Amino acid sequence: MRVGVPKEIKNHEYRVGLTPPSVSDLVAAGHDVLVQTGAGLGIDFEDADYIAAGATILPDAAAVFAQSDMIVKVKEPQPSEIALLEPRHVLFTYLHLAADKPQAEGLMASGATCIAYETVTANDRSLPLLKPMSEVAGRMSVQVGAHYLEKEQGGRGILLGGVPGVAPAKVAILGGGVSGVNAAQMAVGMRADVTIYDISNARLAELDMFFSSQIKTAYASKAAIAAAVKSAHLVIGAVLVPGAAAPKLVTREMVKTMKRGSVLVDIAIDQGGCFETSHATTHQDPVFEVDGVIHYCVANMPGAVARTSAFALNNATLPFALKLANLGAEAAMKADPHLANGLNVYKGKIAYKAVADDLDLPFEAWAG
Ligand SMILES: NC(=O)c1ccc[n+]([C@@H]2O[C@H](COP(=O)([O-])OP(=O)(O)OC[C@H]3O[C@@H](n4cnc5c(N)ncnc54)[C@H](O)[C@@H]3O)[C@@H](O)[C@H]2O)c1
Repeated sequence: MRVGVPKEIKNHEYRVGLTPPSVSDLVAAGHDVLVQTGAGLGIDFEDADYIAAGATILPDAAAVFAQSDMIVKVKEPQPSEIALLEPRHVLFTYLHLAADKPQAEGLMASGATCIAYETVTANDRSLPLLKPMSEVAGRMSVQVGAHYLEKEQGGRGILLGGVPGVAPAKVAILGGGVSGVNAAQMAVGMRADVTIYDISNARLAELDMFFSSQIKTAYASKAAIAAAVKSAHLVIGAVLVPGAAAPKLVTREMVKTMKRGSVLVDIAIDQGGCFETSHATTHQDPVFEVDGVIHYCVANMPGAVARTSAFALNNATLPFALKLANLGAEAAMKADPHLANGLNVYKGKIAYKAVADDLDLPFEAWAG
């Protein structure tokens, strides 16, 4: 199959659909990989790296789309990219269609087969192509939290791990899922005093077993959260209710009780945020202050560590990209129902029920 990798054109997106090592694997499996010149430059993958991996470099996106059967990207296609899609194309990328009717209608009009990373599933019903980004965001949340606790950043002037004779900072993590666990691992590594709050008792038991005495766990009742927020120096919001907006666990009144210069990192901001005082920010202007408390609410945290994120994403997507290339989309989806769950748009129809319902568009299940 001819696999195309255009340069990402969404603002401040430096990741790339395929890294040079992924290209090598596709080429070794007998496929042609066509990469737009400069596609990886933002994270220091030179055209020469892609050529060494066996790719052919093409001058622009139009050439990549025209000569490829499958397009592998990171972000949802922008209007100029949708215009290049044809019915013969397979598009494999994040789509997030449920909140984007113009994109959905554009993809329907293209006739292409569009498989979304975010709805591909795994045996345990998790979402394996979202997981790496939650891991990145969770680990980063502690790094940015520690940074904004510094005095020069407006923070309280506290070192997360303390020093001998001085107590470490208190870190409260709301939600003990993928990003919460990764945040906890970093905070424990920095010797902070960590508590994870969750409403799943099964999850709390797993966390207790996994971390043993390195962290504390607590049921996320309103009272427990209010007490946690009041005493914590760093609060990390990492909750998820699948398919719904994040619950507002921390009210404005609770924020008022916090110490001046403490820090909130709202990872769940991409689902609306779990602090009442949150609003989405960007890497250019990541923080704001409410009642003396610093809020970090960047909706695309992995973008700041685009090189790590590109490798992590490729680790998860490559096995599926190989299946699609080896078998063709339809046979690959027949062979792997988890990949078939990624199908969002097929031959002009929305093939994912929740997207069709959210956008009030007709749904047609894939007949495969
Ligand atoms: N900002 C970013 O750049 C970025 C990047 C990746 C993921 N995210 C977001 O991070 C959030 C967490 O993702 P995840 O993959 O860790 O989810 P996850 O499903 O692995 O974990 C969520 C956890 O929240 C718990 N939870 C649900 N409701 C709760 C409540 N009321 N109180 C306490 N705990 C509750 C669940 O039991 C679960 O353990 C999601 O909103 C995701 O979209 C953001």
